[in-house]
Order: sequence, then structure tokens, then C-alpha cells
Amino acid sequence: MRLFPFFSSLGLLLVMIISNGLDSPEPRLRSVANFPVGVAVSPQRLAQTDYAQTVGSEFSSLTAENVMKPQYIWAAEREYDFSAGDSVVAFAENHSQQIHGHTLVWHMMKPTWLRNTIESYDSATLENLLRDYIQSVVKHYQGKVISWDVVNEAIASEGNGMRNSFYHQKLGDDYVARCHQYAREADPDALLFYNDYDVVANPEKLKTILAMVDDFQARNIPIDGIGLQMHIGLDFSLDQFQHALEEVSSRNLKVHLSEVDIRANPDGKSDGLTEEAAQKQRELMADIVRIYSQLPEKNKFAITFWGLRDSDSWLTQHTGHSQWPLPFDENYGKKPMYQGFLEGLEGNQTKLD
Ligand code: G3I
Repeated sequence: MRLFPFFSSLGLLLVMIISNGLDSPEPRLRSVANFPVGVAVSPQRLAQTDYAQTVGSEFSSLTAENVMKPQYIWAAEREYDFSAGDSVVAFAENHSQQIHGHTLVWHMMKPTWLRNTIESYDSATLENLLRDYIQSVVKHYQGKVISWDVVNEAIASEGNGMRNSFYHQKLGDDYVARCHQYAREADPDALLFYNDYDVVANPEKLKTILAMVDDFQARNIPIDGIGLQMHIGLDFSLDQFQHALEEVSSRNLKVHLSEVDIRANPDGKSDGLTEEAAQKQRELMADIVRIYSQLPEKNKFAITFWGLRDSDSWLTQHTGHSQWPLPFDENYGKKPMYQGFLEGLEGNQTKLD
């Protein structure tokens, strides 16, 4: 038997192994963190191969950026279209990812038919329609969606009291509590969150939300967590962040950093992500993750980015400028902010996946 071919193949294999190195596979956020790491997605972007591969390998939680909002599901008074939301749920199930439902009730993104008819409804009619919507959606996704932003942004922007939305005008101060009750009736196992922005930056808003939580808990109104959206800038206050986490977790609630992005170009004067801004994003990300990681296990829910790549961010249209706010660049390259997330986990992660 001629031995040369055997040894030449073995030699080639050894060369390949040595040249490629035995380096361990690169870390993935979902594998390194000891809590779910999420991202807001859309069906259109999930249809793109590189996007799907990155989302599937890096994240353990998905939020539908838009297609599980009323505008996309609530087709008519008692007609619902779950098709787009179902496609996001299917992706999550294929990639062993949890799904966070966003959002059942929001004063924005009203379906056109509701916007056109809302004034014609008396309070009782609107209450019945809203209850049927909430319970139909929650029941449709029961066992698939583990948590819901039941009501989004119901507190006034300034933080002092309820937002004067058409829901508030028609249904009164206590509509948020009733929406939580409707959702709980539909799925006793789903975790129910209240979600809002500027909760860390605006002490008045934090105070109003905490007062609502205290009232809910005193009346046995179901609530399991608070979503801190975290649409922040480089001037974000870590002290106020630490304080907000302490206040929420002291009420035995879960904390979801639900829509994380970090603006790097607030004045719109930069035509590229500067090295300085990239490093500031990295350091801020690391500090946020480090502080969040120190929460008791029972108070951690997830850290969710509000988009995958800088080019996917809502902020470009919202601010009129690129903000480079997310962990991946437009070519799916990991930015310093991604490294910052890993650095924030150092010393306190146990493999989750
Ligand atoms: O799908 C239509 C498309 O058919 C149409 O051609 C296009 C132009 O009009 O609009 C598209 O819909 C847009 C949708 O995003 C999908 O891209 C809506 O106009 C646009 O208003 C909508 O913006 C979303 C915004 O919520 C309003 O719902 C953003 O993508 C989304 O990131 C943003 O997310 C919110 C959270 O839900 C709640 N917290 C704040 C956060 C930022 O506003």
C-alpha cells in the first residue's frame, strides 16, 4: 500500500489546522451574556441573508420594531391581521429566541380606520373594542410571545401625569390598569411591562411611573416589569441609571432595557462616526451593561437594541442625520460599542445558550 498519499493528506490537514489556528469561535452576545440580548427587527430585513445570519447568531430575543403594533394588526373593528408578526415569531422559533411583544396600546401608530372613527365611539364602545383587540392579540400569540409592552408611553412627555391621548380622553386615568387586566386575563403566563422613554433622564417621569406601579401593586393590578427604552446620547447619566434600576427592582419588577441606541451625532455636524465618539459609545455601553448585570437575577429581563445596524436605525429619519447608534455597521461589522457590551459582561457572565 503506498503510504505517501496518506501522509501528504495528513500533512495538509495539519497545515490547515495550524494556519487557521485553533482559535475558539468568536464570542456571540447571546452566548456570553447571562441574560437575553435582543434586537428590534422587521420581516423585510429578516429576509436578507446576512441580516438573518447576524440576528440568528448574536441575539436570544426579538422584538418586532413595528409589525406587532395596532397599525399593522388591527385591520378593522374586530378583524386582525397577524401575518407579519407571525413571520417574526417563526424566525424566533427557528433560532431559539424569545419574543417580546411590542406593543398592544399606543397613542401613535393608530390604524387609519380607528383614527377616522375614534370620535364616533362612546367610551363603552371604545373600551369593548380595545379589550377585544388586546385579548385577541395576546391569545393569538399565547405560548409564543412571553412578554408584552401592554401600554407604551402613556405618561406625559414632561413626566407630570398622564399623556392626554385619545385613549386617556375617552377612557379616563385608569385605562392603563384595565389594559393590564385584559392582557392578564388573556394569557396568565405572559409578563406584562409598561414601556416608556426618558424614564432615566427625567426624574419627574420616573416618579410618576413609580407612583403608578405602587398604585397597581396596592390594587393587585398585574404588572411584571418596566421597559426603559434607553434612546440615549453620550451624555447619559449613569448615576440616574443606577437610581432608576434600584427603584424599579426594589418593587420586585423586571427591568427591560427595551430600545437601546446611543446617538453619536446629536448636533448633526458629523459626516462620519469619529474615533472619539465610537470610544465614548464603547465605554458607555460597557458601563450600562456592567450596572445592569449587577441586578438580581429575578429583576433582569433583557437588553434589547432598537435595530441591528446603524443604517437600520429609526434615528436617521427622526433626527435627519446619521447617528451611528447601534452595535453593527452597515456591513455587519462589529463596532467598538459591540466590544463595550462584551467588556461590560466581563467577570459576571455564565453561558446562557
Ligand atoms: O411601512 C411603511 C411604508 O410602506 C411606507 O412607504 C413608508 C413611508 O411612509 O412608511 C412605512 O412605515 C413606517 C414604519 O416605521 C416602517 O418603516 C412609518 O411611516 C414610520 O412612522 C414608522 O416609524 C416607526 C416609529 O416607531 C413609529 O411607529 C419606527 O420605525 C420605529 O423604530 C419607532 O419605534 C418606536 C417604538 O415603537 C416606541 N418607542 C419609540 C420608538 C421610536 O419612535
